[in-house]
Amino acid sequence: LDATRDRHFRLTAQKGKTDFTGLGGGETWGFNQSFLGPTLRLPAGASTQAQIDNTLSEKISVHWHGMLIPGEVDGGPHQTIEPGTTWFPELDLTQPPATLWYHSHVHGDTGRQVQRGLAGVIHVDDGRDDARGLPISYGVDDLTLVLQDRRFDRQGRIDYGLSMPDQMMGFMGNVILVNGQLGTQAVVPRGIVRLRLLNGSNARIYPLSFSDRREMHLIATDSGYLNQPVAIESLVIAPGERYEVLVDFSGGEAGTLVSSANPNQMMGGMMGGASTAGGSFVVVPFGVDARLPARILEIPADLGGVLPDGEARSVNTRQITLDMPMGMGMMMRRSNDRFAINGQSFDMGRIDLSLSKGATEIWQVSSNMMMHPFHVHGVRFQVLAENGKKPSIQNSGWKDTVLVNGRVDILVSFEQTADRANPFMYHCHILEHEDGGMMAQFTVT
Ligand code: C2O
Ligand code: CU
Repeated sequence: LDATRDRHFRLTAQKGKTDFTGLGGGETWGFNQSFLGPTLRLPAGASTQAQIDNTLSEKISVHWHGMLIPGEVDGGPHQTIEPGTTWFPELDLTQPPATLWYHSHVHGDTGRQVQRGLAGVIHVDDGRDDARGLPISYGVDDLTLVLQDRRFDRQGRIDYGLSMPDQMMGFMGNVILVNGQLGTQAVVPRGIVRLRLLNGSNARIYPLSFSDRREMHLIATDSGYLNQPVAIESLVIAPGERYEVLVDFSGGEAGTLVSSANPNQMMGGMMGGASTAGGSFVVVPFGVDARLPARILEIPADLGGVLPDGEARSVNTRQITLDMPMGMGMMMRRSNDRFAINGQSFDMGRIDLSLSKGATEIWQVSSNMMMHPFHVHGVRFQVLAENGKKPSIQNSGWKDTVLVNGRVDILVSFEQTADRANPFMYHCHILEHEDGGMMAQFTVT
């Protein structure tokens, strides 16, 4: 992935052709390139002017996932960019450094457009990572890894034909792309390496670890740094989530990042479709090259992240349930039995919640039948509890997307405004669920 670093940037959504497999390939979409988009490195505490040109023959949108900006520049389903037109949002970034991403968000078409390639990564950078003792050389010791699964047909074209199980479970590929390539390998210096992981898959959840069980040191969750690195052996990353870890390669030993099977196996894998992963598979093998400059040799003790305060103030509490259709049989017979939130399938014309600016709420989010990554636009939140227990380490920092398996309670403050014409979304980030109606919208005024 190329990186741009500027106070203004331009993305052109365009058609291209990519041959991933050597079998010929086919049409793919990207921003400024044939598949995916450049990594945007944007300064924290400053405003950046964006220009997005849509040269495709259908409408798209560009949602800045994780950005704390007002509804009118959020890039959700109400801010579509018609074919042949240009959008000029100004992105005023007041938030702390974090790894975010951008992707299309046209209601009903998000899954297909993201599969085609309309996605990219954003680094919000305050210029102080060097002082934090963190790796800062993009592509050398600071690696951005976009995890996406795909299926290819016999000509090597991306196959996004959705079977009934794909509609229900979300699309599951049988091969993994890392940064838009098959068989991606990394070569790193003999030192501490930072991995910025994004799960940009439509539906697959990756339980990640190193095959030799070496430690990873978690430094950041979706919305920014922890106050200190925390050693972990495994990390579950769900669609839409970002995690940053440091990995110690100072011993010079190669390592392999692997994933075990997607834990969302409703009905005992019977509905797994073409999914390969009965067991674990390789995500990225890392080789060590001692000739590369190793700048950081120790895990820093302190990161200076300001964690949520953990305090449950007296605030309004709301129940949010993520509703699946009743079952496959029901789904085939009754097309109005849809994905929904609190019993209602998404409607562009209906505002589901009207909140006041500055309000703080507890949302008790419940999943049913399978795990759902729950995302809220325009905010960062604190996980208060997972199924009544203290949150896991990976949910201990600021988040904008959380995997719900049972019930998750989040504490969230609404600081960014969003009017009726440009409301914020909350939804499941399994894109087939989102496109199927497991989404709702709110205003903040
Ligand atoms: Cu990553 Cu509403 O989206
Ligand atoms: Cu879902």
